Amino acid sequence: MYLSILDLLCCPSCRGALVIRDAACAGDEVINGKLQCSCGNCYPVVEGVVDFHATEQTIANAWSDLDEQALALETPEADRARQDATLRAIADRVAVSGAQVLLDIACGVGRNLEALCRTLPQQTEILAVDLSAYVLHYDRKRFKELAPARRISYLACDATCLPIREGVLDAAATYEGFSNMPGVAHVALREAHRVLKTGGVLVSSFCVIARNSRGCERMKQYFSQHDIHGAEEFYLSDGCILPVHEEMFSRTESAVAVEGNGAQGTQDLIPYPGEWFAEWIVTA
Ligand SMILES: C[S@@+](CC[C@H](N)C(=O)[O-])C[C@H]1O[C@@H](n2cnc3c(N)ncnc32)[C@H](O)[C@@H]1O
Ligand SMILES: [Zn+2]
Repeated sequence: MYLSILDLLCCPSCRGALVIRDAACAGDEVINGKLQCSCGNCYPVVEGVVDFHATEQTIANAWSDLDEQALALETPEADRARQDATLRAIADRVAVSGAQVLLDIACGVGRNLEALCRTLPQQTEILAVDLSAYVLHYDRKRFKELAPARRISYLACDATCLPIREGVLDAAATYEGFSNMPGVAHVALREAHRVLKTGGVLVSSFCVIARNSRGCERMKQYFSQHDIHGAEEFYLSDGCILPVHEEMFSRTESAVAVEGNGAQGTQDLIPYPGEWFAEWIVTA
């Protein structure tokens, strides 16, 4: 993490201020050390990544089961056009916002980060958050090679309880981040709203499908096997995505980045092969 973001952070447990201890830095990036709160919690910084006691997902995205080679695997051809159009649409909207301090929510293997790095001015301060410290170490190493001058701070934390103070960020973005939080996406949305400045922008992508479809049935089954109920509403074009945004944000716009029928051979749970889907970009 970069020292310049310390004042933006807080303890995720009590929201108290954090002080840095035993810092070993390279320039103004803290490589090792710890962030301490007066409540007694202490969050280690290990090889540039701050660990806010986050635990990796188990139902999907258990990144530490994969080695570096598997993490680096290219998106399958079937999913590439959909992904590229969506990433471009997110980055363009974030660029228009003129954000100087930006949060990438649930950054995973960094596809959104890559698009943002290609599009945004070099001096943009980026906070990249994910539950998995493992994937953040992978990202940090990759982006040190890909974009060495970029200021990206990696925080392993839960997007439903961010270690970030209220009203301090210009923008937040996510590529399919909320979609990977079944059952708690609305909580993470509220957190994004909390950390944004008044007038700050949230740009998110959501893959949506039709309610009466095989894709919806398959999704419901998948969730109920994992004891998650009702989460499919976040994936339906007539579901709760827009109402939930509208409850929290004073203005919400949605646009379709790409739509069509799901490709055969997709790796994702949705879209379902041969059935209608759309990638929505919701700007709030
Ligand atoms: C498949 S990735 C989404 C794609 C990614 N944004 C990109 O640009 O490559 C989904 C990520 O969500 C993360 N995630 C799921 N629940 C989360 C939560 N509550 N807080 C933070 N990250 C979460 C997972 O660890 C995973 O890395
Ligand atoms: Zn605390």
